[in-house]
Amino acid sequence: MPSRLRLGVNIDHVATIRNARGGLHPDPVRAARLAVRAGADGITAHLREDRRHISDEDITALSRELPVPLNLEMAATEEMLEIALRHKPHAACIVPEKREERTTEGGLDAVAGREHLEPYVRALGDAGIRVSLFVEPSLAQLDAARGLGAPAIELHTGAYCETHGEARQREYARIVAAAKHAESLALECHAGHGLTFDNVGEVAVITSIVELNIGHFLVGEAIFCGLESSIMQMRVLMDKARSADVADLVVA
Ligand code: PXP
Repeated sequence: MPSRLRLGVNIDHVATIRNARGGLHPDPVRAARLAVRAGADGITAHLREDRRHISDEDITALSRELPVPLNLEMAATEEMLEIALRHKPHAACIVPEKREERTTEGGLDAVAGREHLEPYVRALGDAGIRVSLFVEPSLAQLDAARGLGAPAIELHTGAYCETHGEARQREYARIVAAAKHAESLALECHAGHGLTFDNVGEVAVITSIVELNIGHFLVGEAIFCGLESSIMQMRVLMDKARSADVADLVVA
């Protein structure tokens, strides 16, 4: 029986909507509580350097009030490290960050960035925070993550989600191979970015992957059917894909 696939709900874009008008509504902490009721195993929030969505106050409130693990997405900067060490979330996912990007475009370069990343991985790990590195599905990136001592990686599924036809099949094969490789390196394997009702099944069926982090689609879909309903539907699709009969047929 394949392991249960955890769902981390990313609530960044609840804060995006709040910030469009200032003020307090809609409250990401309220969204997080609802997400937990709907089947989220954890909550993910990205505190960006420019604070375009999640704020410092959100991280304080989430750290204090959440009944499930908080996964803090953060850039490898002194400022973010200080915040992470102050709040000690359950997990931290180190992501690349560029001010001009609309969302996290591409994964970290754990090969070229080894020297820069190493003290961050160590300091977070020493504080008891489970570190993951958000990387492209590349074997070299996974080897580098292992070399850095990170216990987990998150595979960037953006290229797979955004392409079509043969290119998409190639991207999917890269995800499958990377997930298998992660397992062989004893790296806990997560995945996320761009996942929707239509594409989540193909990723959820890869049994080496133990956690998906999903945000933008769930918050967007909530406009039409409500946040609990959108999360519950995602949960059902993940569980269906991971069910024994389907998973027996598959891949990693
Ligand atoms: N995982 C990571 C590391 C991310 O940076 C993001 C986007 O914030 C996600 C998952 C979720 O992506 P999406 O919002 O497209 O579902």
